[in-house]
Amino acid sequence: MKYVNWTRMEDGTKEEFDLIMDLEERANADLVDRVLEHLKLLDVDWGGYRINRYQHSLQSATRAYHDGADDEMIVAALLHDIGDTISPYNHGELAAAILKPYVSERVHWIVANHATFQGYYYNHHLGGDRNARDRFKDHAWYGDCVYFCHHYDQNSFDPDYETKSLDFFEPYVRRLFNGKNTHLELNLAAE
Ligand SMILES: [Fe+2]
Ligand SMILES: [Fe+2]
Repeated sequence: MKYVNWTRMEDGTKEEFDLIMDLEERANADLVDRVLEHLKLLDVDWGGYRINRYQHSLQSATRAYHDGADDEMIVAALLHDIGDTISPYNHGELAAAILKPYVSERVHWIVANHATFQGYYYNHHLGGDRNARDRFKDHAWYGDCVYFCHHYDQNSFDPDYETKSLDFFEPYVRRLFNGKNTHLELNLAAE
């Protein structure tokens, strides 16, 4: 059997859904390749910034690495702006969604909210509130997100910083994503 017989899921059988899951798992085998290819879409010069967003992403990850951050934080730093290509106005949420199955709730929260915290460094220049992040003041991970933005993100626009290549970080992404990649593990569990 290569294709299912149904046109509506409600008519499916166990054998057919076993097939679907098997095929989806095979398609997901190159998930990391696709994520990394998408990250490379940031390797374009939009002007303004002295390095592009791809170099910024690598620099963020490099800073996390040198800071002794754990693997999931290093990968989070690498991918935190991956949503900039197709979801620029809420890009943190997109990156957080990609990372969610593989990282802790804390790291997910930091990535999801990093753009609000980054505003501390420029909102006031644009007529906005640099303290917009303060609405999270009492949140358990407020300080962690401040730390992420201050030490890995807002300072990672330096063309002279010795930034590691994607080849260096690729094994980190593979370890993290491949450590937990079954449909069963991620989708069948109750919330
Ligand atoms: Fe960002
Ligand atoms: Fe960033």
